[in-house]
Amino acid sequence: MSVANRTKRITAREIRQRSADNPIVALTAYTTPMARALDPHCDLLLVGDSLGMVVYGMKTTLGVTLDMMIAHGQAVVRGTERACVVVDLPFGAYQESREQAFRSAARIMAETDASAVKLEGGVEMASTVAFLVERGIPVLGHVGLKPQSVHGHGGFRTVGRGAEAAQVQADAHAIGEAGAFALVIEGTLEPVARAIAEEIDVPTIGIGASPACAGQILVTEDILGLFADFTPRFVKRYAELGAQIDAAAAAYAADVRARRFPGPEHCVGAPGAPKG
Ligand code: KIV
Repeated sequence: MSVANRTKRITAREIRQRSADNPIVALTAYTTPMARALDPHCDLLLVGDSLGMVVYGMKTTLGVTLDMMIAHGQAVVRGTERACVVVDLPFGAYQESREQAFRSAARIMAETDASAVKLEGGVEMASTVAFLVERGIPVLGHVGLKPQSVHGHGGFRTVGRGAEAAQVQADAHAIGEAGAFALVIEGTLEPVARAIAEEIDVPTIGIGASPACAGQILVTEDILGLFADFTPRFVKRYAELGAQIDAAAAAYAADVRARRFPGPEHCVGAPGAPKG
């Protein structure tokens, strides 16, 4: 491909500068074919550690490893040329120290060629975010419901009631001030998420949060009807691909059992097969 034809990838810096009249469109992606399909439509593709649940059938994201994130990050970067690709730091790969976070983030950046990393956390992670940003690694923050803290939260539940509201707000401010280029707000009461979106200086990307956020993100398999284990209330279904896969597999199984497949047109050199 010539330099003149090359599509310019959206940078973390451009996401940071997005104005309210140009909402950030974000989805998750874990594989090359899905990334290819989503790339023309999205500003940001997140290689989320939700892949542990969506792709690997885990009950939580806690079992996802850095090597898994790197392999899927590489797959998604290969399938994209336009979207800003962000790769999640998985549980246990950054919480211990700022140095551990840098080593893990540096592996992701060097081995996947992604544009940024994401990490979950608030006030307690602010100095880690600043440490990475100061060393040239763009960071997407993640506050509110933090799936890696599911046991601390007492389950996957909406946060921000009562005293929690002030904590989520303090978390958002701390991560914004630490230099994150944008902030995911997940599973947070709408008025709390709205207040954050209106108050903080960096763009917010909502998931189960508020329409006031600068952008929205959802798990792609949720909107396509491909992840049936659990559908949160904040998901809007845009397709029912799970039902289509079921019908296609049933039709294939019926064809094989009835010896309708393969037909001559699917064979080479069989009587009645097309030449060539
Ligand atoms: O892991 C993930 O997919 C996420 C999104 C749901 C924001 O963190």
